[in-house]
Amino acid sequence: MSLLVLDDVKVHYGGVRAVDGVSFSVEPGQLCGMVGPNGSGKTTTINAITRTAKLTSGRITFDGTDIANVPPFKLRRIGLVRTFQGIRLIPDLTVRDNIRLAAEQHGHKRRKSRAGAVTPDAFSEALIERFGLSDVKNERPGALPYGTQRRVEIVRALSTSPKLLLLDEPVAGMNHAERADIANVLKELHAEGLSMLIIEHDLRMLLNLSDHLVVLNFGKLLAEGEPHATASLPDVQRAYLGGSIERD
Ligand SMILES: Nc1ncnc2c1ncn2[C@@H]1O[C@H](COP(=O)(O)OP(=O)(O)OP(=O)(O)O)[C@@H](O)[C@H]1O
Ligand SMILES: [Mg+2]
Repeated sequence: MSLLVLDDVKVHYGGVRAVDGVSFSVEPGQLCGMVGPNGSGKTTTINAITRTAKLTSGRITFDGTDIANVPPFKLRRIGLVRTFQGIRLIPDLTVRDNIRLAAEQHGHKRRKSRAGAVTPDAFSEALIERFGLSDVKNERPGALPYGTQRRVEIVRALSTSPKLLLLDEPVAGMNHAERADIANVLKELHAEGLSMLIIEHDLRMLLNLSDHLVVLNFGKLLAEGEPHATASLPDVQRAYLGGSIERD
């Protein structure tokens, strides 16, 4: 069974067809990349999945459940977690508290029943160490380099033990070294079996990481399939040349 299924999803804002009949699936353990020119509907697709945007029509199923039946605040509890295109950490909390709060609010019960004695504190500390944030865990996010803040966001999302992680441009605004660093983190998570849907303008990175690529254009699915083959399709190349997908 597919983990996530979008079936003819439409999100219209008045006359703006932000997402206009998109269907695709994410399989368990898959790292699905999503690309498309600016304004092609990528973020709105994730907004529809997380119910930040209201569906005009269509159906989205996550782990066998129609998400229309799940209140938005319960999505984390069923394992659906996202990051945003802009950073949204709590500025007055330290890195550690940002992560711990998420772990306490959303992940603890499930983890406790699965792993017995693991407390949110211990779980957060382990993630902080693993993702190289020990040196900055007592700092406030605003004091940190942009790349580090994005890393904190990813770790915060992970602290809720997601089944599917949705990442909206995780390396936007990062320098080359920071990008490589995040790419390694994503590669590791993928190797461990975490399912991910990643929006990214950095096509080269997605080609290296993904096992499936989805291309949007004007709110519609332009192409999908094996990443390299899909990126080479004439229609996709045309969208690149005519549009604004950065090739890095
Ligand atoms: N809340 C909204 N109200 C009206 N129009 C919207 C809203 N959200 C998005 N749109 C429009 O829908 C279209 C798709 O936007 P979206 O943000 O999904 O694109 P995107 O592919 O994520 O672009 P980018 O690469 O620039 O992040 C755009 O034309 C945008 O202006
Ligand atoms: Mg976007």
